Amino acid sequence: MNRVLFLGATSSIARALAFCFARDGARLYLAARDVGEAARIAADLSVRAGAYVCSGAFEATDYERHAELIGRAAAELGGLDGVALCFGTLGDHSHAARDADCARGLVAENFTAAVSFLTEAANYMAAQRSGFIIVLGSVAGDRGRAGNYVYGCAKGALALFAQGLRAHLARSGVYVLTVKLGLVDTRMTYGRGRSLLAMSPPTAARGIYAAWRRRAQVAYVPAFWRPVMAAVRIIPERIFKYARF
Ligand SMILES: NC(=O)c1ccc[n+]([C@@H]2O[C@H](COP(=O)([O-])OP(=O)(O)OC[C@H]3O[C@@H](n4cnc5c(N)ncnc54)[C@H](OP(=O)(O)O)[C@@H]3O)[C@@H](O)[C@H]2O)c1
Repeated sequence: MNRVLFLGATSSIARALAFCFARDGARLYLAARDVGEAARIAADLSVRAGAYVCSGAFEATDYERHAELIGRAAAELGGLDGVALCFGTLGDHSHAARDADCARGLVAENFTAAVSFLTEAANYMAAQRSGFIIVLGSVAGDRGRAGNYVYGCAKGALALFAQGLRAHLARSGVYVLTVKLGLVDTRMTYGRGRSLLAMSPPTAARGIYAAWRRRAQVAYVPAFWRPVMAAVRIIPERIFKYARF
């Protein structure tokens, strides 16, 4: 039985992924800055999956409280086997491209906070010599684009950090999964135009859960994004820099 801490649990991807774990008997701690909504999701999951699900507060940039949250979740769940890092903010790119405060904020919420939390989580898992960490990254981190390079650079840096963390923890029996998500139809992408490439949160969650079960290291979800991004990465910079998306 897995005991898993979800960060950013009000994300619809997190919620669908939490259901996959709960249905298979995991005990969950849902951490989110909207504690009321996290409690409602916990109650819903307990009923639908018949699992033990509790919840609590989490603000990603409240760095001093990261270690305390891990302790709280472990106490509630009777130990901690896994962490699913699901928080993130797309923000307003046109604002971030011109406003240094806004750009710093996006990097803090998507990257600095993740580094802080994952460092504490890695210490905890390494000490018990077991566990897993799931990091929700994005295909946006595979190449800097004019349309979203602030968010994209944070996600790209997060993937690099997760890669290093995987190597750091390799001999401690701790498994790190990096998920590179394509477009998912969530609150984050609402109003940005419909895309045929978008998937639903439950579809994304099933892809993530399947990758976790087969112990993938870096999973593109859905898988077609791997060759797509490989192709995008080899477009010469002198041409790619003119792309406006
Ligand atoms: N949707 C996509 O197309 C897509 C593609 C690639 C990667 N992703 C990644 O997938 C993850 C989930 O995104 P989503 O699409 O489900 O978006 P979402 O519904 O907007 O969920 C984002 C989650 O992050 C939380 N969050 C944001 N800033 C936070 C902060 N400072 N402290 C604590 N929690 C914070 C939000 O909390 P509140 O509910 O309080 O706002 C929410 O729970 C993110 O890491 C995102 O970057 C999404």
